[in-house]
Amino acid sequence: MDPAGLEAVLAREAKTGGREKVRAVIPVHLYGQCADMDSILGLAEAAGLFVIEDAAQAIGTDYPSVRGVRKAGAIGHCGVFSFYPTKNLGGAGDGGMVLTDDAKLAATLRTLRVHGERARYYYDVLGGNFRLDALQAAILRVKLKHLDRWQELRRERAATYDRALAEAGLVEDGSVLIPEALYRGSGIKDFHTYHQYVVRVRRRDELKEFLAGRGIGSMIYYPMPLHLQKCFAGLGYRENDFPRSEKAAREVLALPLYPELTRDQQDYVVSVLKDFYRRG
Ligand SMILES: Cc1ncc(COP(=O)(O)O)c(C=O)c1O
Repeated sequence: MDPAGLEAVLAREAKTGGREKVRAVIPVHLYGQCADMDSILGLAEAAGLFVIEDAAQAIGTDYPSVRGVRKAGAIGHCGVFSFYPTKNLGGAGDGGMVLTDDAKLAATLRTLRVHGERARYYYDVLGGNFRLDALQAAILRVKLKHLDRWQELRRERAATYDRALAEAGLVEDGSVLIPEALYRGSGIKDFHTYHQYVVRVRRRDELKEFLAGRGIGSMIYYPMPLHLQKCFAGLGYRENDFPRSEKAAREVLALPLYPELTRDQQDYVVSVLKDFYRRG
């Protein structure tokens, strides 16, 4: 989330008297590094807004806040996590978690989690079934012990891609833009946990097909920005309303990255990328 964009939205809302429409800010810690939370929290505080961090892709990520190092999901009023199997800490099925240090909010969330139940079979509000399955919890507890190591391995593999892509000349000639690690230099350990290693590339769709033809899986996170999704058509947004999101949707490509990925596999990915751009 670009704080300047948020500031502009809040200023516009204030001018049109529409402020009450904005209740909360939901920064997404996309791909495994934190949004600019100090700026976002400053703006939200001034406007009296609630901040929900979407930390689904950033479990364990550090953030060098002006108030000290904080973990993703423990910076705003609450943070939400996903344990979907593909996540850095994934179960064998669905699961999730909310963090908050607000006791009242925690109590509300606990109630909503079990159908709005205040005491056994007494319901003050309508909730749902959002319980974490015991089987998933058991699997996650075992995997949690390995998370730090896996994060380290992800970071090492990301650094290998950074180097290998540059050495292949693909960065210099503008074919590939490697992901920027915003907080690498700030001395924190988990500055980026690389849930995804996402590059921006020329001729993205053609490249994706070329990689697939050589046995390399890649993914587009995400092909269509939210404002253009059919489910949000009622909000009235159109193409060019969020040009940076739209540009990202045209250019991004996630390369294979996971703790078990070998150096040979990474070299192969880079050699195929090189081959693609050399062919022109
Ligand atoms: C950034 C982000 N937010 C939210 C979600 C949703 O998580 P879940 O499918 O567990 O509800 C995901 C992944 O699925 C995600 O990547």
